[in-house]
Amino acid sequence: MRTTLRALFLILGATLALWTSGCTQNPPTTGGPSGATSGSPGTTTQTSAATGDIKIGCYFSMTGGTATFGESSMNGIRLAIDEINAKGGVLGRKLSYQLEDTQGAQDKAALAVQKLINQANVDVIIGEVASSSSIAGGNIAQNSGVPMLSPSSTNEKVTKVGNFIFRACFIDPFQGFVMARFAKDNLKAKTAAILTDKQSDYAIGLAKAFRGTFEQDGGKIVGEEFYIQNDTDFKGQLTRLKQLNPDVIFVPGYYTEAGLVAQQARELGFKGPLLGGDGWDSPKLTEVGGEALNDSYFSVHVDVESSVPKVQEFVKAYQAKYSANPDTLAVLGYDSVYLMADALTRAGSTDKAKVRDALASTRGFQGVSGTITMNADRDPVKEAVVVAIKDGKAVFVTSIKPAGGDIGTGGDTAPATTAPSPAPTGAASPGADAASPAASPAADASPAASPAADASPAASPADASPAASPAATEAPAASPGTP
Ligand code: PHE
Repeated sequence: MRTTLRALFLILGATLALWTSGCTQNPPTTGGPSGATSGSPGTTTQTSAATGDIKIGCYFSMTGGTATFGESSMNGIRLAIDEINAKGGVLGRKLSYQLEDTQGAQDKAALAVQKLINQANVDVIIGEVASSSSIAGGNIAQNSGVPMLSPSSTNEKVTKVGNFIFRACFIDPFQGFVMARFAKDNLKAKTAAILTDKQSDYAIGLAKAFRGTFEQDGGKIVGEEFYIQNDTDFKGQLTRLKQLNPDVIFVPGYYTEAGLVAQQARELGFKGPLLGGDGWDSPKLTEVGGEALNDSYFSVHVDVESSVPKVQEFVKAYQAKYSANPDTLAVLGYDSVYLMADALTRAGSTDKAKVRDALASTRGFQGVSGTITMNADRDPVKEAVVVAIKDGKAVFVTSIKPAGGDIGTGGDTAPATTAPSPAPTGAASPGADAASPAASPAADASPAASPAADASPAASPADASPAASPAATEAPAASPGTP
């Protein structure tokens, strides 16, 4: 079996290599030849002196039921690329990007990444938002040995795809923990129901994490119902859940369905709070859900109204460029470009294995969304923000820090750039993680403030650390300015 797989892999690798070299004769117009050829996994070689643009391949849902995910992410990405290029670029070269639309579909995500690697010859990849799409695209990037950074995919499995896959956000075990603790401690909920998108890795993982913490804390999950993306009628499920009389209903899906669920839940007479995760984060959420969403709550990656200077600077620049307010996806897209630029700079080249190693050794990177230190799983450990919906607007309620790890909100407590630790440049074959051994406090602390953390309740914005575990951070994280 092993041998068969390996043979298949070799054939695939050879095919990809051929395809790649075939395409180099026909360089796409967005940038010059990158000088790098990607072959089979982990065997990237720099074939000639790199000149021309450094090419970032982007794949996002630009159309369909999650189109604002792609729009916002790309707005953040474009802003960062423009800023960096205005200051001379990276390694003396300009950044350029090629964008592929996934339409929010996994199979299209895989094709998009194939195209970016084999036809556009990109140096690195940024994408996707939806975890299921990042898993599909990540498999392709991993097998081709191209570093990929998802700005915002939170499902645990995303970075488990392999050692070339990174993310810039927290993960769902933590996010589910945050919302369950919030339900119990802040909303005093004793019972909850869950309505899950059963085809979404994100929704399934988040539902599981919420349930785990809520039950561990002595709460009762009275029922769970399911739907699939693009459904529009949730009345059957909601009728059954309402009969069980839950204090809250947790809806771990994306904004289009969440808005409709809210409307129908109210029509059916459910009066309690609806809860969600970052998948609700879209200007379209309240367009769809309207009044029905009042006094509902969800978790996001950063408080965009925070008075933290780095956040304020970003918001101003974003407003100037787009005449709109950023959501947290825009922030994560923006941070992802700067993270890549930081890694490319430390790698000193676009060699894919070196860039991978540099990403893996990211420590104390100051983003707008907080401080980013990659742990051994290539996941940052960061705090989450809970917002409430009041009259169509998301307003800050509290922020919750994970146990241990290097976290913060882009405040002024830590060094401005990643510590120039000697980047491990050893073999970076897929499967072998070259992250420097336990260099960071985050490295061994499960990024998920695991449900086992029996720490103090998140009572107030000030001391909301739910997991004041012994792992408590070395660097006192800047608390997110806004009360
Ligand atoms: N975390 C979601 C997922 O993994 C994507 C998402 C992130 C959506 C941030 C909105 C805001 O599928």
